[in-house]
Amino acid sequence: MLTELDTIQTEALAAIRDVAEETALEAARVGFLGKKGRLTVAGAGMRDVPAERKKDVGQKLNEVRTAITSALEEKSAELIARRDAAAFASIDPTLPGRPLPQGGLHPLTLVLDEAVRILRRMGFALAEGPEIESEWHCFDALNTPADHPARNETDTFYFENGKLLRTHTSSVQIRTMEKEIPPVRIIAPGSAFRRDEIDATHLSAFHQLEGLYVDRGVSLADLKGTLEYFFREIFGSKTEVRFRPHFFPFTEPSFEVDLKLHAAGRAAKWIEIAGCGMVDPAVFTEVGAKRGDAAYDPDSVTGFAFGMGLDRLAMIMYGIPDLRLLIENELRFLEQFRG
Ligand code: DAH
Repeated sequence: MLTELDTIQTEALAAIRDVAEETALEAARVGFLGKKGRLTVAGAGMRDVPAERKKDVGQKLNEVRTAITSALEEKSAELIARRDAAAFASIDPTLPGRPLPQGGLHPLTLVLDEAVRILRRMGFALAEGPEIESEWHCFDALNTPADHPARNETDTFYFENGKLLRTHTSSVQIRTMEKEIPPVRIIAPGSAFRRDEIDATHLSAFHQLEGLYVDRGVSLADLKGTLEYFFREIFGSKTEVRFRPHFFPFTEPSFEVDLKLHAAGRAAKWIEIAGCGMVDPAVFTEVGAKRGDAAYDPDSVTGFAFGMGLDRLAMIMYGIPDLRLLIENELRFLEQFRG
């Protein structure tokens, strides 16, 4: 039996050595190690080996199986390596790669990120509120009288349940004061909605950035300093900032903010950019009544607020002539902002 096992080993190794493809290798494996393979069949002969020789023969059987198995593995690795090499031979790894189309950030996102970066550095935290708002948060709490034109059904999208699409992000001022006590220093970027005819300077869904700072002793000088710093950071240190008296129901006094940019290729003219003012004590009183505490007692805290159009900021920043470009997602437009 030992001789027979030797013969099987010699023949198996020779057969495996001569194999040139993977199917033939598999056939060789089955032929020697499979259920009816020669070594398996020979192994069954162990039954007839006298007890005193079983150990030697068993050992030999194992040696032969190990030898054949490792020959099979080696050959298999060799065949795979040969197949890979053949595949690689048809590829030129020195060719330049194919560029993958890469996206970029939308100009609105770029402007927003920059604005938020500057304001966060100044200590403002991000806040948010719902786009579907109650009339109270959007108007009443902001001291807006019942007959104010902004409340008109022709100007505002109302739902049947009396809720509305917020017409400005100023509602987030109220949302914040409802749940947080002073000092609060927040910015709230977000969408706002008005029933405007869409044209080059109006969209029915647009974007604003709201700001609110309430604490003891916040003054108009703080407001002016904050916005001047902000606009100079974003548009350059030579930017002129002008505060023009105006009216908003929720601030007193109120201002509109104009900018004059001094940059190459820009006509130096005043452009309106934001609304702002000192929070009207009536707003604090309304919030205090809702909260049921004295956290916003108008005799002990003051605050400033501001709001600006982000779409408009992007138009100015990038010289975009028509707001509709911001929502059309025309690739030839968007590709110009790819970083
Ligand atoms: N909410 C105003 C608007 O949409 C903008 C505004 C003006 C916001 C004055 C303010 C503010 O916070 O103080 O036109």
